[in-house]
Formats: sequence, C-alpha cells, structure tokens
Amino acid sequence: MSLPSADGDRSSIRPTLAGLVPYEPGKPVEEVQRELGLDRVVKLASNEGPYGPFPAAREAIAHASPELNRYPDGGAWRLRNALATRHGVGFENVTVCAGADAVIGFVCMATLDPGDEVVTGWPSFPSYVLDPLKLGAVPVRVSLRDDRFDLEGLLSAVTPRTKLVFVAAPNNPTGTTTNRAELEAYFDDVPPHVLTILDQAYFEYVQDEDYPDAIEEFAKEGRNVLVLRTFSKIFGLAGLRVGYGIGPADVVTAIGKVRRAFDVGSSGQEAALASLGEPDEIARRRSANREAMASLQRVLRGHGLEPAGPAVANFLFVRVGDAQAVAEALVHQGVIVRAMGPFGAPDALRITVGTPDEIAFLDRALSAVGNLDAAVRH
Ligand SMILES: Cc1ncc(COP(=O)(O)O)c(C=O)c1O
Repeated sequence: MSLPSADGDRSSIRPTLAGLVPYEPGKPVEEVQRELGLDRVVKLASNEGPYGPFPAAREAIAHASPELNRYPDGGAWRLRNALATRHGVGFENVTVCAGADAVIGFVCMATLDPGDEVVTGWPSFPSYVLDPLKLGAVPVRVSLRDDRFDLEGLLSAVTPRTKLVFVAAPNNPTGTTTNRAELEAYFDDVPPHVLTILDQAYFEYVQDEDYPDAIEEFAKEGRNVLVLRTFSKIFGLAGLRVGYGIGPADVVTAIGKVRRAFDVGSSGQEAALASLGEPDEIARRRSANREAMASLQRVLRGHGLEPAGPAVANFLFVRVGDAQAVAEALVHQGVIVRAMGPFGAPDALRITVGTPDEIAFLDRALSAVGNLDAAVRH
C-alpha cells in the first residue's frame, strides 16, 4: 500500500531538481523473465564483465562475511595503501569510494557552486551531467565528432566559470577513446583553473599502444587531473561498488570532506584487495573480451548494423533507428540491451560484450526481431 499523500506544499524540495530526470536503471533479469514468461534472459545492458569475481576475491568475500556485523574501515586504509603502492603515488593522492560513480558525485560536491560550469562530451556517461545539475551547476555538452570526444571542442567551451571538464576514455556509450597525443595537446592548453576528470573505467580492457595510462602519464606529471578507475568492470565486482580516483592531494582531501564516512563496505574492500593480486586473470579476461567483441561485431554486421569504432572497451554502440522500439523487441526475445535516449542518442543501442554463448543468443534474437529499420541496413 502506498502512503497517503502527506500535508505540505513540498517547497522543501530544491527547485533545481524539478527538471531533473533521474537515471533509470533497467529492470532486473528475474523480473523481465517473470513478466514475459521467458525461459532465458540475457543481460547485455550495463557494461559489467560477464564473469564473476576473481577466485581470490570470492574467497576474500567468504572470509569477510562473519565480520559483517561490524562497520567497515571507513577510510578503506588497506585498500587505499595498496592502490597507492601499486600506482606509485602517495596515500594522500588516492580516494576510494562506492564506485567511480561515487567519486564523480563527490568531486562535483566538492567543487561546484550553483552557476558553475562543467564541460563534457555528449553522448557520454550521464553522471557527468546529472551530478552537476543536482547542485545547480550548468553542464555544457559538446557533441562528439565521429563518435569520439572532441577535445578541441571541449577546450573551446571552457569559460572562466568552468570548474570541471569530464573526459571519458574510453567513452561510454560509444566505446571509442581519445589517445595519448590528443590528451597531451589538451593538457598543454587547458587553463589552470579547470580540474579535468579523466575517467578510465574501462582501462584494463584497452590494448592500444597509443592509449595512455593517465595515472603514469598525466597525474604523475603534475597535470591538474583526477583519474578514475573501477573494480566494476574487468574485476567483476560491480555489485560490491568499489572505485577510486587518483589526483592532487588537495582534491582528494576535499573529496574526503564530502564523502560519506562508510562509503565502501567491508566485502568490497577485501574483494578489491584480493583482486589486485591476479594480473593473469586480467590478461585472460582482456583477451576473452577482445575475441568476444570481434564476434559481436561480426554478428551485428551480419544483421546489417555497423557499430561505432574503433571500439576499445567491452561494449558496442550501434545505430538502429528507433532504438527504444528495437530494445523492446529484443527484450521479448530475452535480450536486454540499453537504448541510448538517456545518454543523448535516441537512435542507438549500447550492447555489452557477453560470453560467446550470450552473443549467439543475441544473434538468434536479432534474427527473430528481423524488422530492423531498413534505413540503417547496409
Ligand atoms: C565511463 C564510466 N565511468 C564510471 C562508471 C561507473 O562505474 P562504477 O561502477 O565504478 O561506479 C561507468 C559505469 O558504467 C562508466 O561507464
């Protein structure tokens, strides 16, 4: 039963929120399965890795469970230390939060006053726009060029009121990335009052010698940058919510002031720590992803669809005409993909690279749907 509507005019709710459309998470697999009476539902919608936590992480989670009556280590001291050592930076340069998404929210909270501007490419990760809006700040969206971040375009959009620039490398949803030379040119030109958030959530998937390790090549070179990484993707820990940022100590200190005291649970901290010791598993998953992505590309082309590229992460962006309609038709065949309206691309789907079996299932689902917009067929 829903609560009766309470007295009050709700003027306590900030007017800034009136026009804000919240990020809508997809329905859980079990719910879709039940609602549509399907035997099998495959979720290729949220860019998680298709495999579970690493074996060592599973063990660490089991080991941590008897102590879950205790609050976690609020400062994530051991994980923060391990990340500082791994990246060769100071403890004071590392912030650990409930996912890279939480770092995005907290860095906004730590820097933005109403009216401040935030520049980002578009379509891109919705939090770069939603989090500033929540604070009354002004997101400035610069269109992608050829489905890639246009760093020169971002620089032209910077004004004296710009506090943050978000660069997703690779970009979600298009899967493309900016390279070392483009980022170097950007950092040479960006004015000093701008803090750049360089989001490398999919870092471990990328195999391209022109793709930089932004911690090594920009943060350690003294650029004004906060680099984001996460345990949600290749590490298979999306459900536990652990991500981190590496950047200037004063930025990390400011995030520490707005961050919630117990942001990351104990299981997440232990699982992340254990995952750091398994480089071979990362290499295995990286190469499995590369093969599966090639197979997904072949499947899409077989259905007359050409994904954006070069795609370097674990998902593909593909224009299909009325993406919402195609996504709905696919759900009825048991495949959940993401229509990109909320990301600023209503004509496109984003499809996460799954296991070979899941990709074969998608192939059959696309055949069953059959009536993809003729305009996008090649
Ligand atoms: C570009 C980008 N940044 C950040 C995130 C958030 O990751 P996390 O699960 O660590 O919050 C995502 C997740 O999809 C992403 O695509």
